[in-house]
Parts: sequence; structure tokens; C-alpha cells
Amino acid sequence: MPAARLIFLGPPGSGKGTQAQRLASRLGLVQLSSGDVLRKERQEGSAIGRQAASYMDAGTLVPDDVITGVMLSGIDRLQAGVGFILDGFPRTVAQAEALEAGLRQRQLKITTVLDFRLADEEIINRIIGRRVCKACAATYNVSFLPPKVAGKCDKCGGELFQRKDDSREVISTRLETYRDQTAPLIDFYSRRGQFHSVDAALGADAVEAAVLRVVEVASRC
Ligand code: AP5
Repeated sequence: MPAARLIFLGPPGSGKGTQAQRLASRLGLVQLSSGDVLRKERQEGSAIGRQAASYMDAGTLVPDDVITGVMLSGIDRLQAGVGFILDGFPRTVAQAEALEAGLRQRQLKITTVLDFRLADEEIINRIIGRRVCKACAATYNVSFLPPKVAGKCDKCGGELFQRKDDSREVISTRLETYRDQTAPLIDFYSRRGQFHSVDAALGADAVEAAVLRVVEVASRC
């Protein structure tokens, strides 16, 4: 299969990160998660991390130029010809336009955009139960996708923690932010073709199978 360059779009907690981790390891792609990159910057105490902190804790978006610069640098660090999944980026029309221009300069093109669809009630249930590995960022859910040993990552044994922005109060701001600033990307990408919706309410294995089908079919076009 030629290198896939994918965008995973969708509301918070819709399973973008979970499916990006699965697809990346299955197809040998690199997952570039904007949220993970920002959390790492914060952990390291960098200038970008310090700038992003208040936005992330409030559930609003960090400035477009900051995140676009970070993500394009991530793409530049990849080996030539390696496929990637942009997970959580772009999140505004301005970011999508900047990405398009940045990729054009690098003579690259997005091959498929997948939009994860999930109702708000289910989003809240999933986010409240989410636990993330401190060491490798693998994602679990105490109700739906629990680790084999409570509090420990199956993959690396790292400690699991609950994200600060995974509280009920911040979730409602994140949902509002999604509706106001990110949902318009559905129209933006629908008009450009190679856009597919995925029913994210299914179990993780069924969603994975649906994502894989879309990516395989798209690779033949
Ligand atoms: P980010 O980390 O990107 O958060 P998000 O988009 O809100 O997405 P999530 O990580 O919450 O959810 P997800 O869709 O990856 O779901 P997951 O797979 O974990 O961003 C955090 C913050 O950083 C933002 O608020 C913003 O401040 C900033 N930021 C990031 N990108 C930015 C950008 N581009 N521009 C500006 N600011 C930006 O799944 C959720 C839970 O459900 C897990 O517990 C999982 O185990 C479980 N689960 C997954 N799939 C299933 C399933 N099929 N069935 C049952 N449970 C499931």
C-alpha cells in the first residue's frame, strides 16, 4: 500500500487517539497527536508547553500559529516516504489552510480524512473513564477498555493517570469549542473529496475494521 497520510477529525473522546495508535502499529504509520505533543512540551517545561498550559486546562484551543508550527515540524522530522496520521490536527479552518499550504510546499498531500462521529452523552462517559499511560501515552478506559492490571499499562507497565482536562466542567467547554471551531472542518474537507465518516459508537475492534476498510479502499483510488 502506498504511504497513507491521514487526518483523524472528530469531537474530543470520540476515539481518534485509540484508533490512531492501532492503525499506526498495524500499517507502520507514524501517529502525530497534537494533544500528546503539547502534553510532552508541558512535561518538559518548554516555552510552547508553558504557553499551551492555560488553554489546555480550560478546554480551549492553543493559538493556531503555535500548533501549526509544532505539527509541521513533526512532519519534517519523519523519514521521507513514511506515512502519518494527524490526530487532533487541524482543529480550525485557519489550521487546515495552513496545513494545506505547508504540505504543498513539501510536495505532500493528505490521502484521506476520517471523521469520527459520536453523541455527546457517550463522549462524556468515555472521557470520564479514560486513563492514559504516563510513559507511552497508551489509552485505556476503566469501563470499556480496561488494562489487564488496574492502574498499569499493558504495553510498558507505566503508571496510568487521569488527564486534568477530563473533568465534567472542562468537557463541556471542549465540546463547545469543538462545535464552534472544529465542526466547520467537516464542510471544508467534504468539499475536497477523500472524506469519510466513521460510526465511532461501535466497539473499538469494529471501529478499527471500518477505519481499515476506508484506508484500504482509498489507497486503491
Ligand atoms: P487532545 O489531546 O487532542 O484532546 P481531544 O481532541 O479533546 O481528544 P481526546 O484525546 O480527548 O480524545 P480522542 O478522540 O483521542 O479519544 P480517545 O481515543 O482517547 O487535545 C487536548 C487539548 O490540547 C485541547 O483541548 C487543546 O487545548 C489542545 N490542542 C490539541 N490539538 C490542538 C489543535 N490542533 N489546535 C489547538 N489546540 C489543540 O478515547 C477516549 C476514551 O474512550 C478512552 O478512554 C478510550 O479508551 C475509550 N474508547 C475509545 N474507543 C472506544 C470505543 N470504540 N468504545 C468504547 N470506548 C472507547
